[in-house]
Amino acid sequence: MIPGSVSTYQPSHHLAMGMGKSSKMRQSFWEQFCLALTFLPLHLGSAVTGDPSHSCYGAPGLPGMPGVPGRDGRDGLKGAKGEPGIPAIPATRGPKGMKGEPGSPGLPGKTGPAGPPGPPGDPGEMGSAGEPGMLGSYKQKHQSAFSVTRQTAEHPLKNIPVIFNHVITNTNNDYNTTTGKFTCKLPGLYYFVFHSSQTANLCVLLFKNMRKMASFCDHKTNTMQVSSGGIILHLQAGNEVWLEVNDYNGMVGIGGSDSIFSGFLLFPD
Ligand SMILES: *[C@@H]1O[C@H](CO)[C@@H](O)[C@H](O)[C@H]1NC(C)=O
Repeated sequence: MIPGSVSTYQPSHHLAMGMGKSSKMRQSFWEQFCLALTFLPLHLGSAVTGDPSHSCYGAPGLPGMPGVPGRDGRDGLKGAKGEPGIPAIPATRGPKGMKGEPGSPGLPGKTGPAGPPGPPGDPGEMGSAGEPGMLGSYKQKHQSAFSVTRQTAEHPLKNIPVIFNHVITNTNNDYNTTTGKFTCKLPGLYYFVFHSSQTANLCVLLFKNMRKMASFCDHKTNTMQVSSGGIILHLQAGNEVWLEVNDYNGMVGIGGSDSIFSGFLLFPD
């Protein structure tokens, strides 16, 4: 109760009543009076309302406590369609997609490197015999022998190779009947020998490459006589061997009296 409000009402009550003896009795009275007024005609009501001091209503109460918040309202209507969004940047990569179907098989690959050689196969059948080789070709290549004669009654020129112009044996033409020289083709040990018929004094000299290796001289004491000589030489390929005569040059080659020069390979290197 506000004390100010009580003091305001009480005097008016006392003034209006005047004859009241207790507040309970006065309240009861006004309550019944106001209740009756509500059922009275309007002209009496105006008299009551025209005087505030005799109003039937009390002073307004204090504001009540705030009520409990009401329940949520119903959902509103669907909103309007929004503005279109900003176009995506082309370079922007989108999210990863779903796994695709497997592609078709590719073309066959290139041929791989050759593998290691396999094991040797079984021996084949024996072939037929070949043609016979050239007879003696191997031996002929490794032999050298000559015998040549000088068939003339004239004495040979001095200090030049004596020409033996008739061939009895001459493998591979090692002796040249034009130059009168033997040329070595197979290196090794060679044996040279001569038998000469003479009708005058005679000296036979054997040369090997411009070097005199042997000399045989014989004075004529008979009408016809023979002199001879021999030597073994080691020759290299290309070496040349020949015979010469000096001032004593009585060598002849006539019927029944030959002059012959021979040579052959003893041992090849
Ligand atoms: C003999 O030697 C001559 C002169 O060097 C030559 O022209 C000729 O071909 C040779 N003969 C042989 C059979 O080698």
